[in-house]
Amino acid sequence: MTKTARAYTNIALIKYWGKKDKQLKLPYTNSLSLTLDRFYTDTKSEITDSNQDEIHLNGKFLNDQQSMRIRNYLDVVRKNYNFSEHLSINSVNHVPTSAGFASSASGFAALAASINQTMNLNLDNKELSILARKGSGSATRSIYGGFVEWVSGDSNDTSFAVPIDEHPDIDLSLLSVVISQDTKKVSSTSGMESSVKTSPFYENWVTLVSSEINEIKQAIAKKDVEKIGELSEHNAMSMHALTLSASPSFTYFVPETLMVIQLVKELRAKGIFAYVTIDAGPNVKVICTKESTPVVQKYIKDNLPTVTTVVANIGNGIQYI
Ligand code: DP6
Repeated sequence: MTKTARAYTNIALIKYWGKKDKQLKLPYTNSLSLTLDRFYTDTKSEITDSNQDEIHLNGKFLNDQQSMRIRNYLDVVRKNYNFSEHLSINSVNHVPTSAGFASSASGFAALAASINQTMNLNLDNKELSILARKGSGSATRSIYGGFVEWVSGDSNDTSFAVPIDEHPDIDLSLLSVVISQDTKKVSSTSGMESSVKTSPFYENWVTLVSSEINEIKQAIAKKDVEKIGELSEHNAMSMHALTLSASPSFTYFVPETLMVIQLVKELRAKGIFAYVTIDAGPNVKVICTKESTPVVQKYIKDNLPTVTTVVANIGNGIQYI
């Protein structure tokens, strides 16, 4: 019987923001993430007699338009691995939009793992990571648990994730502060494309990331959580500087995003461990320790009662259940 593939979402501490090859999704820089335990996607696929793929998400059949990205992805996989069968895919997302995380990382990682199983492709984790990458860049890293680096590479076969420490014994938690559940106006795909093309700072970003990747790996090895927090916050702010300096300029921030950043700075001034990271959306993720999490959660809720918060811890790589 085919098993269900489960993949967890991840948060990039040193972010991927820009492709040098859009077709293959080859990034300009390496990136480094932490896999999280609370949010995941379960996917099961079966060969169907139908002459087209059938996609179900959370129990609902997706129409042609809704399933276009997934069907295009399946066409790429069929071509890559020389099979012609169509698939019936059943995917359940345990990444509620209300948790402020994008589901493409866990979604495409689970889909890749599920196809690997159903079509007996016998891919190892490196090959699986390459396959997930073709669905969404951030999915490349969701194959592994803990701290994961995506090595940019310069061809299809050299761009994949490597585990840095899959089960780190380190005191870090992530508090997701959900400001808005609206779908973003600028997708990450087009946001990064416009940053690459028009931000005068893009070259500096590439240089910055290569040194921050090295620094964060050293900090992870030493379990230096302060340094991990500092580097992550600086990297996120630098990524958002690319959107502000693009032409035309755009931003994912809303007023409350800046308010949460301010609150986190106030907490830090009081000696509480808290650093922010922000992806392509208005919601803020606060990097905390076990001890600081409830303090940060309460301070933010007291000052901004409209937001919701969710705590996540370090999660595992792909599982088959
Ligand atoms: C800000 O992986 O969603 O979350 O490859 O175009 O699907 P595509 O983009 P996606 O971009 C993620 C951007 C980010 C940073 C990161 O996860 O590294």
